[in-house]
Amino acid sequence: MTAMVTLALSKGRILDETLPLLAAAGIAPAEDPQSSRKLIFATLQPGVRLILVRASDVPTYVQYGAADLGVAGSDLLAEHGGLGLYQPVDLGIGRCRMVVAAPEGFDYPAAVRQGARLRVATKYIGTAREHFAAKGVHVDLIRLYGSMELAPLVGLADAIVDLVDTGNTLKANRLVTVEDIAPVSSRLIVNPASLKLKRAVLAPLIDALRAAARG
Ligand code: ATP
Ligand code: PRP
Repeated sequence: MTAMVTLALSKGRILDETLPLLAAAGIAPAEDPQSSRKLIFATLQPGVRLILVRASDVPTYVQYGAADLGVAGSDLLAEHGGLGLYQPVDLGIGRCRMVVAAPEGFDYPAAVRQGARLRVATKYIGTAREHFAAKGVHVDLIRLYGSMELAPLVGLADAIVDLVDTGNTLKANRLVTVEDIAPVSSRLIVNPASLKLKRAVLAPLIDALRAAARG
């Protein structure tokens, strides 16, 4: 009997971009995960199932082997630390940039030159800490879980660390990028023990997803 393979995905934009890659690799959900409240989905490929979890929880499910594979943004992998995860494929989806942004009128370079202690709101505490430490910028980090762009507008923070794609969200809130931190894209992640135990099923699947990502 072949082992069951579990693939962890998150709802939202990553799912929209992942489903065509999965289809190209021969994996189609048996029902539409976008319009269902279910959390576990059979696929048309026997022995492969999908689970839907919070984006930031995907690395944890794979790390502990509750899922064999997952698709996670490099932003969230950096926060997780990547411990116990094999990252064989950059899927090239969910592309954006991690940046520092501040209100249009705020002279960020001057504040940094003067050694000011900045309040920075973000959900990427680890990434932000590392970025500002490397630059020798003094910061107090404030943990938020979303809508970071609001924080400087209501006096919660001087700046934010967040993702930017089109720049529309920054623009709509009269913020500008003041520093670039890193490019972001989604990665296929694999539990190393699963890869050993289920190599016969997982290796071809990883190869197919790599080929689909190359397009
Ligand atoms: P949750 O609120 O459930 O914790 P989330 O808001 O982080 O999740 P999404 O917005 O679906 O979840 O983002 C998931 C991933 O998509 C992010 O980790 C990132 O890698 C990528 N991403 C987020 N925003 C953008 C964007 N504007 N453009 C491209 N990719 C993005
Ligand atoms: C992400 C990110 C920015 C926005 C950037 O938020 O946190 O707010 O996208 O994209 P843009 O440059 O194309 O405007 P998302 O839409 O995922 O909402 P969230 O606040 O719920 O994470």
